[in-house]
Amino acid sequence: MATSRRRVTAPDLVRMKLRGERIAMLTSYDFTMARLLDRAGVDVLLVGDSLGMVVLGYDNTLAVTLDAVVHHTAAVSRGASRALVVADMPFLSCHTGVPDAVRAAGRLVREGGAQAVKVEGGHPVLEVVQRLVEAGIPVMGHLGLTPQSVHQLGGFRKQVRTRRDAEKLLESARALEAAGACAIVLEMIPHSVAAEATTALQIPTIGIGAGPHCDGQVLVTYDALGLYDEFVPSFVKRYADLGSEITAAAEEYAKEVREGSFPAIRKSALSGARRD
Ligand code: KIV
Repeated sequence: MATSRRRVTAPDLVRMKLRGERIAMLTSYDFTMARLLDRAGVDVLLVGDSLGMVVLGYDNTLAVTLDAVVHHTAAVSRGASRALVVADMPFLSCHTGVPDAVRAAGRLVREGGAQAVKVEGGHPVLEVVQRLVEAGIPVMGHLGLTPQSVHQLGGFRKQVRTRRDAEKLLESARALEAAGACAIVLEMIPHSVAAEATTALQIPTIGIGAGPHCDGQVLVTYDALGLYDEFVPSFVKRYADLGSEITAAAEEYAKEVREGSFPAIRKSALSGARRD
């Protein structure tokens, strides 16, 4: 289906759910990739703190600073003319008080050009979500595997094992909706629980490793395009193998430089040399 070039807005996400249109979201961290993904008609570009792993080479997302997310969000915003740009609130930015969280989100919007922010967690962040929404900043929630709690969760592993866990997640999802969230990412939870949340909520669910019943899907672009191979979750689908293509292209370049075949000697340069 052809996509309109009008900018996608946070309220559009709810309208898309109402119309039964699936939301396509990918992560993005720089201007060039943002331009390519935007051109492809991806609806939402998330400047995820996964940038700490796939761009900066850390083992997890905890080292990512607010300054780093602002910096990368600004680059993505310069590259995206249609997609909604959502910036991740980094580790601890929502847990030192509501004013700190509002200031942090304000920087992502004012300096980064984000049109929404994403916040991990349920009950502990509800007041922050409500205050950000009151301040005019759309908020996307994030439940299930919340990578900023990797140490507490004991690793990047599937969440929601019991019916009680499922009830807790559904309750958190409803509370986030009531606090004004415009959508909720559901990461690595059973498909059946994601389906329940999708039916229970008026705002869209965006799944990652949460099965096909969500209102939209998100993947880490470096996983989907085959650029990052340190750790690839089992639910990831590889749409390209750009990592191998880049390595092969760089090998070809290095070979040509070493053997002197690049740059090629142009005929005009040769004739110019003879004239001298
Ligand atoms: O940081 C990120 O890329 C994310 C997605 C995995 C949803 O939060």
